[in-house]
Amino acid sequence: MIVNNLKIKNYRNFKEVDLKLINSLNIFIGDNGQGKTNLLESIYLCSIGRTFRLNSEDELINFNENKCTIELLLDKNKYKINIELFLEKGKRKQVKINKVKLDKTGEMIGVLNNVIFTPDDMKIIKGSPIERRKFINIDISQIKPKYKYLLNKYKKIITQRNNILKNYYTNKENKDIIDIWNNYLIDIGTELIWYRNEYINSLKKYAVDIYSDISGNKEIFDLKYKCNIGNICDMDKESIKNIFHQKINKNIDNEIQKNTSMYGPHKDDLIISLNNKECKYFGSQGQQRSAILALKLGEIEIIKDEIGEYPILLLDDVLSELDNKRKGFLINYIKNIQTVITTTDDNDLINLTKDFDKKIFYINDGKIGNITN
Ligand SMILES: Nc1ncnc2c1ncn2[C@@H]1O[C@H](COP(=O)(O)OP(=O)(O)O)[C@@H](O)[C@H]1O
Ligand SMILES: [Mg+2]
Repeated sequence: MIVNNLKIKNYRNFKEVDLKLINSLNIFIGDNGQGKTNLLESIYLCSIGRTFRLNSEDELINFNENKCTIELLLDKNKYKINIELFLEKGKRKQVKINKVKLDKTGEMIGVLNNVIFTPDDMKIIKGSPIERRKFINIDISQIKPKYKYLLNKYKKIITQRNNILKNYYTNKENKDIIDIWNNYLIDIGTELIWYRNEYINSLKKYAVDIYSDISGNKEIFDLKYKCNIGNICDMDKESIKNIFHQKINKNIDNEIQKNTSMYGPHKDDLIISLNNKECKYFGSQGQQRSAILALKLGEIEIIKDEIGEYPILLLDDVLSELDNKRKGFLINYIKNIQTVITTTDDNDLINLTKDFDKKIFYINDGKIGNITN
């Protein structure tokens, strides 16, 4: 899929921007604080509907304005799709696809598929399990709308069930209804586990080969789904459900005592390892970066398998983090994928891409100019 046109109004430090992107490399060069990440974020917003940064939604609107818009034109599977996002201070954001307003922003996920790679993604390796769950949740949601729906449902079940566990002895009714909530938890939780297992298996297949290419066959990459209810490797849904039931039955007293749901996919993790050693603890900085790179490039291939087209790749200032060999590998890998890439160092990237089709833009204080090579 290709993003042809991006229009921005009063978003972050941009007043008015109207960009034509090309279907290969789009390079944005600028010093720190000029708007490079803001620009990538605007495309990401049209894909996921939420920012990947920590800001509140109002902070996306230019400091001096009350509302902003982002509009994007997409070619996907021979269709032209128009995505519009409207933000207004103090109001709920609105999304339109081909001029039709969506009831929920979440419905937009999966229309514009993207893979983003930022220096912050190191947290997928180094951070807590929450970061890894976020990573797989966004990935699977982009290709399986049903997963997103189930995930929302599951979150509500956890909230309700925790409430029941908390008031188990104070509210008599809770003793009667806990079984119902256990069944909800197990039914929906099993579906999520099943999706995750499938996804992680596919991601592993790609990432192992990609990592091997990056490292020159020196190290073996591995990805394992650490399912919180137990080892569910290659099990069918019925067997997963049985394990889940056993886990809950065995531990319900403990859950009541602790006032919280202790078992289920909301506690899952992902183990990323190199030569059988967990990358989080034993990987060097360079190995950890390569591992993330392998995961991100694997993600791209899975989206291609699912929807028949490559997603848009957003690379935020990641080249400076990679050594020359890895830079070369990455640039070569992405030459047939529409990529929006930001950098502070023009020489480096221009040298690396001298034989590639590209469009170069300069960003300065929210203003964007371009020269075409
Ligand atoms: N809502 C906003 N209104 C105006 N400027 C903003 C807003 N949010 C962030 N900025 C400005 O955007 C700049 C940072 O942009 P960013 O894209 O992160 O820079 P970089 O080019 O380093 O990636 C900062 O100068 C910041 O003050
Ligand atoms: Mg930046």
